[in-house]
Amino acid sequence: MLILNNATLTFETQQLAPFVSNIELTMLQPMVTVADTMLRQGTGAGAAYTDWLHLPTEYDKNEFARIQAAAKKIQANSKVLVVIGIGGSYLGARAAIDFLNEYFNNYLPDEQRDFPQVLFAGNSIAPAYLNSLIKVIGDRDFSVNVISKSGTTTEPAIAFRVFKQMLEDKYGVDGAHDRIYVTTDAKRGALKTLADAEGYERFVVPDGVGGRFSVLTAVGLLPIATAGGDIEQLTAGAAAGEVAYADADLTKNPAYQYAAYRNILYRKGYTTELLINYDPTLVQFGEWWKQLQGESEGKDGKGIFPATGNFSTDLHSFGQYIQDGRRNMFETLFRITEPVSDVVIPEMDADDGLGYLQGEKMSYVNRTASEGTLLAHVDGGVPNMIVELNKQDEFGLGQAIYFFEVAVAISGYLNGINPFDQPGVEAYKRNMFGLLGKPGYEELTAQLKIRL
Ligand code: PA5
Repeated sequence: MLILNNATLTFETQQLAPFVSNIELTMLQPMVTVADTMLRQGTGAGAAYTDWLHLPTEYDKNEFARIQAAAKKIQANSKVLVVIGIGGSYLGARAAIDFLNEYFNNYLPDEQRDFPQVLFAGNSIAPAYLNSLIKVIGDRDFSVNVISKSGTTTEPAIAFRVFKQMLEDKYGVDGAHDRIYVTTDAKRGALKTLADAEGYERFVVPDGVGGRFSVLTAVGLLPIATAGGDIEQLTAGAAAGEVAYADADLTKNPAYQYAAYRNILYRKGYTTELLINYDPTLVQFGEWWKQLQGESEGKDGKGIFPATGNFSTDLHSFGQYIQDGRRNMFETLFRITEPVSDVVIPEMDADDGLGYLQGEKMSYVNRTASEGTLLAHVDGGVPNMIVELNKQDEFGLGQAIYFFEVAVAISGYLNGINPFDQPGVEAYKRNMFGLLGKPGYEELTAQLKIRL
């Protein structure tokens, strides 16, 4: 099995030995070469949505500088930034902010936080959530970043109305203008029309970048920078990925290897992939990954079902199933070598059975748990791969984001689907418009109501 090391990201496949042979990987090289051409030469389905490939090196410098300036302004005049968006319009920012901060950072009182609290709205239609969020903001100064590529998605549109009104009530119409940041399509959509009419500061979701690939645009960068993330380092990490994951040769490209192994496993009946983490600050990264995989690959009756395992927590819930249930799943362990901080297990005279661990670091126990679990799962018939970052920082995160984006593109082409559209998401949005009586959907409204 191959082990490839990069500056910060390692992809390890040693534990696949009982499930996949080297020759199977080699046999996929011709298909991978074709998938690489489809992606790089723009001959594949959805080629119009592959501009994310060069975002790290070709992102609009002026826009990047405006994002940094806007983040500084929000940091200076707000205690809270409300980020309104759903799916690809919030998952990346949320994942990055959790990844880069201490877990309870958002719970600290303002005076103990260096940067504004970032709270997310418009990712559900639950009224109680919105009311609770409003309560948390209280009478503190806040700004809003509303993000919607289409500008027509119902969830964020509702939330934006509520917060626009709150801002106007609190600061007046002019004062509200100073606190509303719109991230949307450059040319079309209701949000773009509104932003232009009102004169809000506007950032662009580039045409050739779909929602789930947009974290390295203003969609992710403005919230991340506001929360104190170093977006230059984030972009630099992704740029390192742009170099590291560009080779069509499977032996030299860990992202392509990951895609190829996933494809081999899928064909053998391993139709569910669990992205495993051992740290609560990585849970939201798993949510971002789940969307990236699921929305890219789940179509035409095919695709690996993406799920996550938050360990060791989930070992005490569905760990039993992973060890012993239906054998149709594989795991990708996403872990960090160096913990952000550590705890030494106290030495004490206590009859709690922990004497053998006293004086040890918790990170050692956590890592050992991951190793023990991985081997148990392999023995139980669950193939395992490892994606490991040496550090939990912006650079590593950028590289990991790029790794998974490239991999899913190749993986999608290997499985004969367009990885860059999302017809299923559009279907539910249309039905919702129909049932809610949106003008222009009258015929659909009638058809759907008969069925309910
Ligand atoms: O990745 C995607 O394309 C989707 O998840 C969208 O991001 C999501 O549906 C939100 O769409 P919009 O940004 O148009 O409001």
